[in-house]
Amino acid sequence: MRIDILTILPGLLYGPFSESIVKRGVEKGLVEVNIQDIRDFSKDKHKKVDDAPFGGAAGMVLAMQPLHDAITHLQSERDYDEVIFLTPDGERLSQGRVNQLSLCGNVMMICGHYKGIDQRLRDHFVTLEISIGDYVLSGGELAAAVLTDAIIRIIPGVIGDEMSALTDSFQDGLLAPPVYTRPAEYNGWKVPEVLLSGNHEKIRQWEEEQALKRTKDRRPDLLDG
Ligand code: 6GU
Repeated sequence: MRIDILTILPGLLYGPFSESIVKRGVEKGLVEVNIQDIRDFSKDKHKKVDDAPFGGAAGMVLAMQPLHDAITHLQSERDYDEVIFLTPDGERLSQGRVNQLSLCGNVMMICGHYKGIDQRLRDHFVTLEISIGDYVLSGGELAAAVLTDAIIRIIPGVIGDEMSALTDSFQDGLLAPPVYTRPAEYNGWKVPEVLLSGNHEKIRQWEEEQALKRTKDRRPDLLDG
């Protein structure tokens, strides 16, 4: 899989992709992440990447020419399964959408800034608009990093223990049950007896009950569907 991210602030993205699971996925050759600086495409003599909106509203919009050229340049090199615009008015990101995107070959992500991007680019190039929650970020980069991380960690082979991504919260529509580690008693606090029993069927049952209880208590909305 290949992910291209179009941004005017590439520096915001290097950090999240140079550690841990995303880094491992890239190093194993299971995914390629290309961060493309929109400014490199600007034909303006000052390399300007913003412009004023028609209508006189406050704030700026990403300039048309550099972003359009960046998109068409990438599209001339490969076909994209999705061209995603990260925006607070997009579809709220879910594990189901992440699972679907993890099956793609090539994905382009466009990070907005200022008041966004020209609506005509959304109409003509963008196939999917994603928000990561009901709050506003200063730009799409952190959202693109979140989406990229969520996609890469479930690509088969990226996480060592194949099972662990499948037992995440949300993968089965439930929150994950509590976990415990050694020692069985620490500072007077005990691990639930059943986890020490060695009875795998009982343990599985207990985990399922706990997952259901946790979901009822914290996210009853997940059980409505
Ligand atoms: Cl994708 N972008 C911005 N700027 N803010 C957000 C967001 C995206 N998702 C939630 N808030």
